[in-house]
Amino acid sequence: MLDIEFFRSGFNNYLEKKLISKAPLNLYEPITYIMDLGGKRLRPILTLISTDVFGGNYEEAMDAALAIEIFHNFSLVHDDIMDAAPLRRGEKTVHKKWDINTGILSGDVMLINSYQYFENYPPELFKSLLKVFSKTAIEVCEGQQYDMDFEACEDVTIPDYLKMITYKTAVLVAAALKMGAIISNASLNSQDAIYDYGINLGIAFQLQDDYLDAFGDPETFGKQVGGDIIENKKTFLYLKSIEIGTEDQINELKDLFSIKPANPKDKIETVKAIYIQSGAAELIKKEIKHYTKQAFQLLESIETPENKKEILKEFGNKLMNREV
Ligand code: IPE
Ligand code: IPE
Ligand code: MG
Ligand code: MG
Ligand code: MG
Repeated sequence: MLDIEFFRSGFNNYLEKKLISKAPLNLYEPITYIMDLGGKRLRPILTLISTDVFGGNYEEAMDAALAIEIFHNFSLVHDDIMDAAPLRRGEKTVHKKWDINTGILSGDVMLINSYQYFENYPPELFKSLLKVFSKTAIEVCEGQQYDMDFEACEDVTIPDYLKMITYKTAVLVAAALKMGAIISNASLNSQDAIYDYGINLGIAFQLQDDYLDAFGDPETFGKQVGGDIIENKKTFLYLKSIEIGTEDQINELKDLFSIKPANPKDKIETVKAIYIQSGAAELIKKEIKHYTKQAFQLLESIETPENKKEILKEFGNKLMNREV
């Protein structure tokens, strides 16, 4: 059976052949820079896996996988501007290494470039894939806007938060999987089931991202630990603490999330302590397990041999236990 590493290296080899820097260098170098920094390549791997799971040839899914990964990296370049993030994958973010204008325009080219990879598919497939892709891309922007709006909003609820992360993160994971099903000509039933598996996995993934943003190891995480706290992000950790914390904890959190101190060290330490003492840091772990389990249950309605589903379970379990 083909394994996750097989798909990762196959994708990376394909990507390497496509990346070139050309003039104007200040437009293209940031693109090869961010793409070369690596990352986990989760979404393209899922497209390839899904194609294989539904009996198709994963090599035919390479261009769709590439489109998804370039789009993802575009979203990171712009997200890092929006989140004022200094670090990505252990190195400077594009707008820190170059400047904000460079990040905007190189990101724009990446978005357009991602669409071009669909041109390699025959007309019917092109249309089906683009339909999913464009819908998803707009939803990601909607999620990103909610994420930004919530920074300054005091009455965000956990359902609001779940909707926000579904849009900014889970729909792309789900679309990556659905594209594999489309390329393999899977039934509409299976296309929907794998999409829903992706939504649940994507929610679990973003919850874990939020957990690591506060509690990850700065040596290995690759991003600025505490970045969400600095930016007053209304994550599950924050919202749950507000829901179940003591009155003192709630007041302190609300105060701290109404300011952006020049030196955020104390704020980060205090907020992390409240996340632990309130019980939210434990509860987020439960929530991650819950969504992963729900994803696995959805696999049951997928029409493919049981042994083909194993890799999707392995993928989910790895995500849940990741440190990066
Ligand atoms: C980061 O995604 C953005 C989120 C949606 C949380 P990844 O954690 O997949 O980033 P890379 O591509 O592996 O660096
Ligand atoms: C980003 O969410 C989601 C998208 C890029 C669309 P985050 O802002 O949490 O991602 P990181 O933590 O910077 O990778
Ligand atoms: Mg960010
Ligand atoms: Mg963000
Ligand atoms: Mg994050």
